Order: sequence, then C-alpha cells, then structure tokens
Amino acid sequence: MQLLELVIRDIRDASPLIREFVLESTNGSALPVFSAGAHIQVQIPELNDHRCYSLIVTDPEHDWRAAPQQYRLGVRLEAEGNGGSKFMHQLKMGDVIQATAPINDFPLDAAQTDEKDIVLIAGGIGITPIASMAHALADQQRPFTLHYSARTADQLAFADELKTHLAHQLVCYTNDDTPFDLTALFDTLSPDQHIYVCGPQGMIDAVIELAKTRNWPRCNVHFELFITAAPLEGDQPFELELRQSGLTFTIPADKTIVDVLEEAGEDPMYDCKRGECGVCTVDVLEGIPDHRDYFLSDKEKDSGKVIQICISRAKSPKLVLDL
Ligand code: FES
Repeated sequence: MQLLELVIRDIRDASPLIREFVLESTNGSALPVFSAGAHIQVQIPELNDHRCYSLIVTDPEHDWRAAPQQYRLGVRLEAEGNGGSKFMHQLKMGDVIQATAPINDFPLDAAQTDEKDIVLIAGGIGITPIASMAHALADQQRPFTLHYSARTADQLAFADELKTHLAHQLVCYTNDDTPFDLTALFDTLSPDQHIYVCGPQGMIDAVIELAKTRNWPRCNVHFELFITAAPLEGDQPFELELRQSGLTFTIPADKTIVDVLEEAGEDPMYDCKRGECGVCTVDVLEGIPDHRDYFLSDKEKDSGKVIQICISRAKSPKLVLDL
C-alpha cells in the first residue's frame, strides 16, 4: 500500500492526555478526501507496525467533497499501551511520519426519508470520529444529538469547539458532575434510531447489550473500537491444525492465529484485526472456539462452527480449521 509522507505542522494539547496533531503533505499537495468516521494508519517505526487514528473535523465550514490541505488527529497517551501513543506524543513540529490514505470502517449510513434523531455517543478519545460525524450530519442537515462523556471536564477534549458549533445538539457528561447514564438515555430512544458509538470497550459493550435487550436491529448499532487482540489473563497456548493444508502450529498465549500464520509465511485473509469486519471468518471442524469478536451473532458463536481468526482463540487444547 502506498504511504503518504506527512509533516507535522502543528501540535497542541486538547486535554491533559490527548494531543492534537495537524498534518500536511510534505510536498504541499492536497491530501486524499475522506468521509466522517475515517482513520489513517500511522507507521510506528520502533514497533514495525502501525496504529489507527481517526481524522477529526470540528470546523463547520469543512468541505467534505474537496481534497483537504490538512488532516487533524487526536491521540490519547496510553500509559499502559505498547508504544504507539508514546511514539506520537514525542513527535515535534516539522517531524515527518508515514501513513496510509484514509480508510473508513465506521461510515455513516446514507440519509433516509423521515429520519429520526441519530444518536452519537463518544467516550474520551472516541470523540475523534464522532465529532467528524456530527459535523458531517450538520452539513447534510440531518437530525442528531451528540452525547460526549469523560471522567472530568478538562478531559472533554475539543469540547469548546464542539460547544460553539453544535450548541443544543451536544450534551456533555462528566463522572464527577453529571455522570452519563446509558440506561436512562436508552429509555428515551426507540429501536428505529441509529446509534454510532466510539469509546472505551466497556461503553461499547454496554451499548451493544442495551440495544440487544431492547430488540434493536443489529444494523442500527454502529461502533468502532481501536483495540487490537490483547491477551487476557489466563490465556493458554493451544494447538492449531489446518485440515486442508495439513499444517499444524502452536498458538502462544500472546499471539493470534493470524499472527502465527503470517509469521509462518501463510497468507490468511484479514482486514480490521479487531474482530469487527468479518473478513477473517473461518469454519471450525473440531475444537471449541473462544469467541472475542463483535462480528458473529450469538447464534453463530453458540454453534461453534465458525471463528474470527484475527482475535478469537480456543477453549479446547486443539482447534482444527477448514484451511
Ligand atoms: S479481520 Fe476483521 S474480524 Fe478479523
């Protein structure tokens, strides 16, 4: 994939933990156009890997159809992270980074006639794609309300800009003052509304669970997680057999099936590596999957017949896949 060379034109602290970066092409040319919810994959040289950061728009004059001169990112410093945010937070103005063109795995659905209020929910750094969505919806004159929560008022990054431009369409919550009560919010909603949520995994899980118990159609609940497969306490290695190719592997506790197959020179199909997109679905022939994805339905998970190999593991000592 061709990478963009981006120079850091400006940096500012958007909150005590979130730093905003303004990026431009090193040759001054316009950048690829993007839609609300898009992210770029920034290369992290020290990790020989990339991290995904959403493009944020808080300018009501932003032209969504034109190639922009700048991208803006918000990056939260993760003290417990494995280095991506630390790399970003040590960057200085004038430094050059490499990144992919924008990718959008979290797009807004097309407008519908007689559309009901669209519910945008952001927790902490989850505001970056959600703020862009709010401005895109405002640009399209579609109805929406943005619910934005953080622990404290000073952690509501970009809140001043959002308050200026969104006014009554923005509701802010802080744990120390006005805690966000998701159940109370759901009491005011109906299942034919669309929800877009980005934030901590606990918040996303709670939204999904509330929507499920209140019979919301799955297609009306949209979310994006910026997690990668991380080992859970108690994870054990397991044996993997690929029945078609006859290959066998040991999957250690700290690696995914996709990681191990790639290291062995195999070419497994995957995209998001977060258990969201469904690209890496594989049939299970033997063994019990330990599902950790957000793609399969409860019924599919209960069947034990398919697995997302980018994130899920095995509950049994051995797993046999139809590969
Ligand atoms: S790569 Fe997207 S669900 Fe596995």
